[in-house]
This record gives sequence, structure tokens and C-alpha cells, in this order.
Amino acid sequence: MKTRPRRLRNGETLRRMVRETRMDSSSLIYPIFVKEGENILEEIPTMPGQYRYSVDTMGKKLEQLLNAGISSVMFFGIPAYKDEAGSGAYAEDGIIQKALMQAKKDFPELYLITDVCMCEYTSHGHCGVLCGQDVDNDETLKLLAKTALSHAQAGADMVAPSDMMDGRVAAIRNLLDENGYRNTPVMSYAVKYASAFYGPFRDAAGSAPSFGDRKGYQMDYHNSREGVKEALLDIEEGADIIMVKPAMSYLDMVTRIKETVNVPVAAYSVSGEYAMIKAGASLGYIDEEKIICETAASAFRAGCDIYLTYYAEEIAGFMRQGKIG
Ligand code: PBG
Repeated sequence: MKTRPRRLRNGETLRRMVRETRMDSSSLIYPIFVKEGENILEEIPTMPGQYRYSVDTMGKKLEQLLNAGISSVMFFGIPAYKDEAGSGAYAEDGIIQKALMQAKKDFPELYLITDVCMCEYTSHGHCGVLCGQDVDNDETLKLLAKTALSHAQAGADMVAPSDMMDGRVAAIRNLLDENGYRNTPVMSYAVKYASAFYGPFRDAAGSAPSFGDRKGYQMDYHNSREGVKEALLDIEEGADIIMVKPAMSYLDMVTRIKETVNVPVAAYSVSGEYAMIKAGASLGYIDEEKIICETAASAFRAGCDIYLTYYAEEIAGFMRQGKIG
């Protein structure tokens, strides 16, 4: 035998030398839930180890993240009240707006990204305003753009629309530009599937739709080419980064989008992925640390440049210890 693949697997030094996927913690984004109120530190039942914070308690977590080498967070808001129009999403004193102002003041070195969507703020739990039983796409665009602008005004460094309305990137880009936020990037949840993997998140944020589902706007998971269509459309509208979501069951899409577009690609390892690992590990069926490492490495191997994960802190630690990366 002239060629023996095992030759290059002989010892950790050589294995690391020929490693194809290299990662570091600057690629990680931690999603954090901020809730209206004071002195809140509520563990999310379906996401053990993850919490809802209030503006006054989130600082400790943000500091911990920075110390762990995580320089970027994605904010999700849980408002005190919800209404038909989701007005808490774009209120000047909305929960995200307050969280941004506080975080910007206390941690200027932290990069602040916001999820732009209506579902946490609407009384019916859909990602936009309703017209009958359906989400009114074009009316929703105005509110999404207004939300994104209010985030930028409150200190967001980047906005990330996750609603899946048609034309939202252009609507957001235009309003940001008109108001002088030309350099605020848009990370689009472009390739976002209607997925049961969001279940625990909807518990965490209280954002499950009160009727129907999200299949009228999020993508059918049988489709691959449609993801390419969504990604290209959003880039044309001005998206700076394209996200694929969920990650684990959609790594084919991460690879496909990476090969198709010339902007950075993000993958979001969502709440259900986290919950499955936690549950499996708590039963002793799987080794949590090893599964976290393997899951993260596979997302980067598939081609993502950016990885959103509730395990960001742990992964950064494993990178530091040389267990992955
Ligand atoms: C808002 C939004 C959702 C997630 C991110 N942004 C929920 C949904 O679309 O129902 C899911 C994140 C996760 O599951 O971790 N639309």
C-alpha cells in the first residue's frame, strides 16, 4: 500500500497539523433572553442552564461571556404586554431598547445584535400583523423596519430579521439608510425553516402562535433550492450575512448556501438542538461535552463562518483547552 490514510492520524500533533476545520471563539454568538421586570433570573424549564434575565441582572452574564471570549450576543425580548400590532417591538422604552442602552453603556466592547421579529410582541404570537387569519406581509414590513431602526437608535450594532416576510431586508435597509445607519449590517435569517426545533424557544419567549402555525412564511423543510432563492433575494436586497436555521438537521443547506453566495454564512443551533443534548446528557445517554464539540465542529465543517449557540460559553472553553478548534 502506497497510500495509507491512517498515517496522518498518528498522534494528536499530526492530527492537529492536518486538521481541515479551524475555529475560534470570535465566530460565536450567544443568544440571550431579556425580560421586562426587575431582579429576574428564571431558568427556562425546557432549556436547563439557560435563563431569562431582566436588564438589571443581565450584566453579570454579559461580563461572564466577555471573560469567556464571547464578544457578541443576540438579544431576544420578552415584553410586559403584547398587542395585535406588536407595539412593544418598536417602543422607545421597549425591553430590547432598554437592554441595548444598558449593555452599550456598561459593556462598550460587546457587539450587540438584535433579533428583529414581531412574534414575542403580538398577542396572537405570529411574526407580523394579521389580516384575517393570515399575516399581512406588506403591512408587517413597515413595523419590522421601524423595529430595526429603533434597535439601531438604542445601540444595536447589527440587526437580524427572523420573521420571513418577503421584502423585509430591503425595507429595513432603506429605513436604516434614510436615518443615517448606513453602516449597520443586516444579518438575514434567510434560510429559515418551519421547524419543531424551535419548541423550547417558544416556551422561553412565550411566542408560540395562538392559532395555526408558521408554515405560511417559514420554509418547508423538504426544500433545498428554495433556500438558495431566499438567500439570493436577501443579498440583492442588501443582506450582509445570510443565516441558515436550524443548524444540525440543515447542514446540507449550510454547505449549499456557502457554495452559492459570497457573503458570510451563519448557522443557528436552535433551542431544540440544545434541549436534546441537555436531555440526553442528563439521562446519561450521551457525553454532553463530546457531543457539544462534535456538533459545533460539524457546523463549521459544513461551512458556516458564524455560529449562534446557547453553548457558546462552553464551546469557547473547549476551544481554549484545545479540545476543538
Ligand atoms: C423569532 C425567532 C424564533 C427563533 C429565533 N427567532 C422562533 C420562531 O421562529 O418561532 C428560534 C430560536 C431557537 O429556537 O433557539 N421568530
